[in-house]
Amino acid sequence: MCGIVGYIGPRQAAGLLVDGLRRMEYRGYDSAGLAIVNGHGVEVVKAAGKLDNLEQRLQGATPTGTLGIGHTRWATHGAPTTTNAHPHTDQSGRIAVIHNGIIENAGALRKALEGRGHVFKSETDTEVLAHLVGELYAGNLEEAVAAALRDVDGAYGLAFVSADEPGVLVAARKGSPLLVGVGDGEFFVASDASALLEHTRSVVYLDDGEMAVLSRDGYRIRNLETDFIDKPVNQIEWDLATIERGGFDHFMLKEIFEQPESLENTLRGHLLDDEGSARVHGLNMTDDELKQINRIVITACGTSWHSALIGEYMLEELARIPVEVEYASEFRYRNPVVDEKTLVIAISQSGETADTLAAIHEAKLRGARTLGLVNVVGSTIAREVDGGLYLRAGPEVGVASTKAFTSQVAALTLVTLRLARLRNLGIMQGRAIIEGLRKIPAQIRQILDRAHEIEALADQFWQSNNALYLGRGVNFPVALEGALKLKEISYIHAEGYPAAEMKHGPIALIDENMPVVFIAPKDTVYGKIVSNIEEVKARGGRVIAIVNERDADMARLTDFCFVIPTTLNVLTPLLTIIPLQLFSYYVALRRGCNVDQPRNLAKSVTVE
Ligand code: M6R
Repeated sequence: MCGIVGYIGPRQAAGLLVDGLRRMEYRGYDSAGLAIVNGHGVEVVKAAGKLDNLEQRLQGATPTGTLGIGHTRWATHGAPTTTNAHPHTDQSGRIAVIHNGIIENAGALRKALEGRGHVFKSETDTEVLAHLVGELYAGNLEEAVAAALRDVDGAYGLAFVSADEPGVLVAARKGSPLLVGVGDGEFFVASDASALLEHTRSVVYLDDGEMAVLSRDGYRIRNLETDFIDKPVNQIEWDLATIERGGFDHFMLKEIFEQPESLENTLRGHLLDDEGSARVHGLNMTDDELKQINRIVITACGTSWHSALIGEYMLEELARIPVEVEYASEFRYRNPVVDEKTLVIAISQSGETADTLAAIHEAKLRGARTLGLVNVVGSTIAREVDGGLYLRAGPEVGVASTKAFTSQVAALTLVTLRLARLRNLGIMQGRAIIEGLRKIPAQIRQILDRAHEIEALADQFWQSNNALYLGRGVNFPVALEGALKLKEISYIHAEGYPAAEMKHGPIALIDENMPVVFIAPKDTVYGKIVSNIEEVKARGGRVIAIVNERDADMARLTDFCFVIPTTLNVLTPLLTIIPLQLFSYYVALRRGCNVDQPRNLAKSVTVE
């Protein structure tokens, strides 16, 4: 995610802003910039890449001034270039803005502004906000921002400054965190308390729909309807390390808990409720081209490979297109059957995985059209594919992938909807899937609210040496992913299987020491899963079940039963995986493992 910091007070702003940005480095970013208001107007300095690059540009050329805004960007619209870096300015160059989030109607607003003569420099949604506020500006920045926000759809944390008001900073929040730092005769805004902790521990947290107007004498909170809201000043008691992880003990836990929000970001702007379909412009393919696809190959590694298996299930079930899922590391060594009629989809959180990149090269050599479902904007895979979809899950720091997985599954659902609605899927079925998708973030929150139940479960099982994960249909890949999560961070040997495969071998492992995790929401094969559970119970195995109904069979057969909210069968992986992620985390914690950096693993595997 991006980082925002702003300052108004008696001190020189530039150095304070860079220090604040440095404090937010752990969040990950691809470019940085700042804007300082002084007698010369608004001076903007930006640089792609690390903060060091920005500091180099500032050397000997640091703008002076005691009001400014600074930003680290994690790209969601447009490549991570200097031009796309924030701050962005309006047509006059006198108003500057920094932004976290995604403006959903940026395309329409930009078109309208261009029609009125505005010329844009960047590809970002943020620049649209600068132009909009600039157009509405009549000597009062606060009112121009409030008026502009009435026309804006989407999520934002924003900070604006204007050369014509050197004593005012205006900030606004909707769906992206923002707080005001109250210092001694100086005031800050930041998306993250770590950016201002060095200067003050007194903060006011903005809620969605609120704006903050900062001056040299004080600050005022308002919303679009009223111009004053009384808000408490809170004292931050956490230390810096805790704040960087958003109050969580580990990045992995933070990222597990971010999933309602990261999924909302993945879905934002793509769902066409009335048509029961998805808008996926990034595919860069016409309806006719999409209709001509007669085979899809999905290639990926690790967790991304598991989401690919879920994609296979969805695409075959709903779009009726034959799909093959290939380990990217195997793809180019086995003379794959791929030609110009095949669509090859690469899935990658980092966009830098060497095997996945090599598979894409191979697919291109064979004439296939390639798409990428990638989280990191501007990464190598994202640049090399013919089209695709960004996951917009935000930076994933924990080596064990969690929020990227659910965003990959959501993105695959969008691609499936798009292809399926051009084929056999009826509008009502499409609408039902969209309705289901819209409920998922809140349903994940319900599960996360019960994390303590999973923590208690981990207390019972953390000393196990082996675990078996079993699921069927769309939840078989969830069994694989659950097992991978457990083994990579707790070093417990864990395996995932289709539940009915158990009797062909793994059943030999079952005794009273073997926890067996069943992923068993009620679906067409539920009765068969119950029989598999009976087989485990008969051999003394300990059964953990993830279900959406604790019926009499589950009450009788399971040692622990976690009930998830009900959703459509194809969407269940988005919910069933959450307790399994939490289980791995709490088990690893009890075993004293380094959760965020498990041994021998790297976040991005850039070697073959
Ligand atoms: O960045 P990618 O999605 O391409 O990475 C693929 C795998 O290396 C990755 O999913 C790995 O398996 C994770 N450690 C899983 O938690």
